[in-house]
Amino acid sequence: MPAASLEQLASLCKRRGFIFPSSDIYGGLQGVFDYGPLGVELKNNIINSWWRTNVYARDDMEGLDASILMNKLVWKYSGHEETFNDPLVDCRQCKGRWRADHIKGKCPSCGSSDLTEPRPFNMMFKTAVGPVADSDAFAYLRPETAQGIFANFGNVLSTTSRKLPFGIAQVGKAFRNEINPRNFLFRVREFEQMEIEFFVMPGSDEAWHERWLEDRLSWWESIGVPRSRIQVYDVPKADLAHYSKRTFDLMYDYPTLGYEEIEGIASRSDYDLGSHSRDQESLGLAATVSPNRDSVAKLTYYDQTNNRHVVPFVIEPSAGVGRCFLAVLSEAYDEQMVKEPTADKVETVQAALDTFRKSVARNEKLTGEQRDAIVAQADVVASDLARRLPEIEQVLSMPGAESIEVGKKLRGVTQPVVDEFYRTVLHLKPQLAPNKVAVFPLKRNNDDLVRMAKGIRSDLQLNANMRTVYDDTGAIGKLYRRQDEIGTPFCVTVDFQSLEDQTVTVRDRDSMQQERILASELEQYVREKSR
Ligand code: GAP
Repeated sequence: MPAASLEQLASLCKRRGFIFPSSDIYGGLQGVFDYGPLGVELKNNIINSWWRTNVYARDDMEGLDASILMNKLVWKYSGHEETFNDPLVDCRQCKGRWRADHIKGKCPSCGSSDLTEPRPFNMMFKTAVGPVADSDAFAYLRPETAQGIFANFGNVLSTTSRKLPFGIAQVGKAFRNEINPRNFLFRVREFEQMEIEFFVMPGSDEAWHERWLEDRLSWWESIGVPRSRIQVYDVPKADLAHYSKRTFDLMYDYPTLGYEEIEGIASRSDYDLGSHSRDQESLGLAATVSPNRDSVAKLTYYDQTNNRHVVPFVIEPSAGVGRCFLAVLSEAYDEQMVKEPTADKVETVQAALDTFRKSVARNEKLTGEQRDAIVAQADVVASDLARRLPEIEQVLSMPGAESIEVGKKLRGVTQPVVDEFYRTVLHLKPQLAPNKVAVFPLKRNNDDLVRMAKGIRSDLQLNANMRTVYDDTGAIGKLYRRQDEIGTPFCVTVDFQSLEDQTVTVRDRDSMQQERILASELEQYVREKSR
């Protein structure tokens, strides 16, 4: 069951250390986030899966890691200086600034319709280069990783002797000065992209475009984002980016947002290599490009069969790591009732929820919007309390709710019931899970149990290269819940029998079934079950 809302995911990410707002201690920076201890593991696992599938599992791909700063001429000839714009409007009443196509003619802040005409706003960040504050001594932070690949096309070709078709894959940071960053990780100002520029013979581009669409959909499926939850949008000609001949946008059904772009698969013809080449008139380009008087290279490929130089066409699958991270979490998210809560416990929570709701409804410090939103959400939860009881935490995390004094009491009575009768579980594919295994000693004050559990941890982590954690900070049931919530596929308990016969119990995250196996067979067991 996918997550019900982005707030639900954001709350989990904050609670368990997947994502932190950047520079939190100074009030944050809008549209910028940090990946915490679990977030960095999940993110790295996503990137590794992408790299394995697109580079190692194919024999037509090279990797690259180009720099973020590039000569600014790259962005002149790529077309970004002129066209990488969003339409900006100002609200004359409250001075708010908005992206015109994201609002419906009304200022989202004060509701006024007194807005300026939209004007283009270039989204590239500039930074000074070198110690002299000269107006010309600047560079852009790259808004896409793609141009680093095009600029290195000749270098890669001459050092690898590749024949068409072949691709160059790259993962790296990109920066966009979004007018209104929003929706958690979905629209941010600093993010990572996983991009491929796949170079093909002109004329074979349409077939390759279709093949890449299929390949990319199967990768999404392999990481737990099924085809049934992705719509392929064939972007109408009028809406295509300046470089594109045709683009398929993969639209994922995000909680709260609905279908939004998770990846673009563009057919870029010979626009980019042609734009960055000198002597363009001699190249027979299909795309319309601006004259280039600065490049020192002709980005062509020598076609031996036909004894001619050609400018390859390009297919570009480009996905954002953060948007992928959100989709993976959303698909994996599940809240389950482990056993039916007793009627008296539900009644106690019901009473505290009623008191909280009344307190919100008459609180004058909240804005009307905040009050209505919290009350509406509390009503949804109350309408099916036994099933939705864990959602009380999201109600308590809504803007304004933290200022309600009786909210603390509500949390206090809810939490023990949630711990006893429910669990949040991330059904992550084992290859993506931040921790593969968690090891617990049955008693933390028994040296022999602790020694054996820690030995298993270091053996799996160091010798088997599986991220494994040790925990002895609670009762076993509570430790299981904690690992379920972050998607750890296997929990291993070391008990007194383990000291005698070297066996341990392994508990499966999804089925909650336990098996007893030899500790020496753990690595093999986990590998087999993770396939
Ligand atoms: N090189 C092509 C390119 O950059 P794009 O559609 O602008 O194309 C590709 O971006 C992907 O990068 C998007 O599908 C999305 O996943 C991600 N992306 C773009 N802007 C983003 C933003 N502001 N925040 C998070 N991810 C973003």
